[in-house]
Amino acid sequence: SKLKIFVTRSDFPKKSISFLEEKYDVDIWDSIKNGDISKKDFLSRVPGASGIFCSLNDKVDKDVVEAAGPSLKVVSTMSVGVDHVDREALKAKGIRLGYTPDVLTEATAELTLALLLATSRRLFEANRAIKDGEWTSPWAPLWMCGPALKGSTVGIFGFGRIGQSVARKLKAFEVSRILYGSAQEKPEGKQIGAVQVSLEELLRESDFVIVTCALSDRTRGLFNKEKFAQMKSTAIFINSSRGAVVNQEALHDALVSGTIRAAGLDVMTPEPLPKDHPLLGLSNCVVLPHIGSATYQTRMVMADLVAKNIVAALTNEKMPAELAL
Ligand code: GLV
Ligand code: GLV
Repeated sequence: SKLKIFVTRSDFPKKSISFLEEKYDVDIWDSIKNGDISKKDFLSRVPGASGIFCSLNDKVDKDVVEAAGPSLKVVSTMSVGVDHVDREALKAKGIRLGYTPDVLTEATAELTLALLLATSRRLFEANRAIKDGEWTSPWAPLWMCGPALKGSTVGIFGFGRIGQSVARKLKAFEVSRILYGSAQEKPEGKQIGAVQVSLEELLRESDFVIVTCALSDRTRGLFNKEKFAQMKSTAIFINSSRGAVVNQEALHDALVSGTIRAAGLDVMTPEPLPKDHPLLGLSNCVVLPHIGSATYQTRMVMADLVAKNIVAALTNEKMPAELAL
């Protein structure tokens, strides 16, 4: 009989699911009809699966691994972040982990720049002003001004694939300095012309602080009251990594008190953010619904990679994108 693959949503790109259906017995949670899968439903549907096709919405913890049982050989997530997966639990059972690095780097860097420009040039605030009848003079010298990217110092915390791509794209804007905070100096830094500094120096020097790090025990809650206080009062804070790297209450306070100028967030806690959340009431905070990798091209290639990771793992071949555990 065919191996079973459990798929946590019914809106993954069809082509990738059909590819799996040719080889396996594919069980798909009907998220369109029933909403996102709950933990209880995940646990009741996953037993006997050899592979799990999931997204960053789906917490793959010890309970899920236990519930799946000894058949489980691979977890393949349609994301580059894997903080929703208990890697130790997988490792203990020899289960392999597939993810989607590289293919989403450029899309996520593009969105990060969009967020940077939207926040610095106050795009949503300006658009809102039109709708609120506040555009009363055709043009006004200081109305809706924001800080220039050209000549600025940009600090990137987390200088991996995405952070480096952001740095490369920033060159076109003629920023004066690119600083990066990372555990060690990276050869790409020199190539790009970015300088490794301590987090303290990055916060002190940067006009724009961009966070593109992975969420880990080291980065959870890292951007707290103390860190915002170390930034310039004119600083703009951008986060396209994971909401949990930020103490969101501290960020809210920093935005309200003028400790920093503005923030642009593609990620937050919780997601989805309730529509009456205090952050959404701030004119100096741009919030996007976790759309970093959301280009048609990227999402198709990501789904394809998720499926190929599963097939490779189940045929004992080299997975195109395996995260070593
Ligand atoms: C998106 O946040 C991802 O991890 O791919
Ligand atoms: C702006 O529209 C200008 O002409 O300077």
